[in-house]
Amino acid sequence: MLAKFLSFFIPINVTKKKSAISKSIEVTWNNGQLVLDSQNTNYSYGSLQRILRKGLKYIGFERIKSFENILILGVAGGSVIKTLVDEIKFKGKITGVEIDLEIIQIANEYFKLNEIKNLEISIDDAFEYVLKTKDKYDLIVIDIFQDTTMPNFLFEDFFINRINFLLNFNGFILFNTMVINEKERIRNIDYKKKFDKNYSVRMYPKVEDHNELFTIKKLVL
Ligand SMILES: C[S@@+](CC[C@H](N)C(=O)[O-])C[C@H]1O[C@@H](n2cnc3c(N)ncnc32)[C@H](O)[C@@H]1O
Repeated sequence: MLAKFLSFFIPINVTKKKSAISKSIEVTWNNGQLVLDSQNTNYSYGSLQRILRKGLKYIGFERIKSFENILILGVAGGSVIKTLVDEIKFKGKITGVEIDLEIIQIANEYFKLNEIKNLEISIDDAFEYVLKTKDKYDLIVIDIFQDTTMPNFLFEDFFINRINFLLNFNGFILFNTMVINEKERIRNIDYKKKFDKNYSVRMYPKVEDHNELFTIKKLVL
């Protein structure tokens, strides 16, 4: 395809929409790969996919394969879902929660998310969803951004406690954060302190420049 070939020399934009949540949503051929970006950052495929893949590697592909129920908060183009299904060959149930209907329409059109059999998408605010769900999960991926901003609720006790409750023993949380300034660096240090001895928390700094990843395991007592 010509656009794909040309994109090794210059990014080729395929579609662009205004968005209340992400300022804009753009699909672009970049270095031979179709990526999804918000106005100021990469959302799916590209560097974001590499970041979450590293997180999944830290948890272990074989271990993830043995899980039954995975929750993804923040779906966008669904690149972490593609890693789970295509690379890890995860066959269990995946639930994706995404606040922005338009981004899911784009994900279906350009990245064929709707062809993934073991995926169910809920168009909802992640905060509302975790209050409502009756399920428990072996892996919860938290990847919520509004362009480059992370909503405050992600770092608050109420949300953290609810996520911990929804996690099965021996299950993992994978939390992707962005750290650009000192305030955010301290915010992350404080976040780590919120988990007691029942959890094993690891922080991976400087994953692709500005991202800091957490893996949190719920220990069996
Ligand atoms: C970085 S993207 C997610 C990328 C995705 N995990 C992947 O692997 O390709 C962040 C997403 O979070 C969504 N988002 C922002 N606030 C949200 C909220 N309160 N509830 C659910 N999704 C939200 C945005 O619309 C955006 O699609």
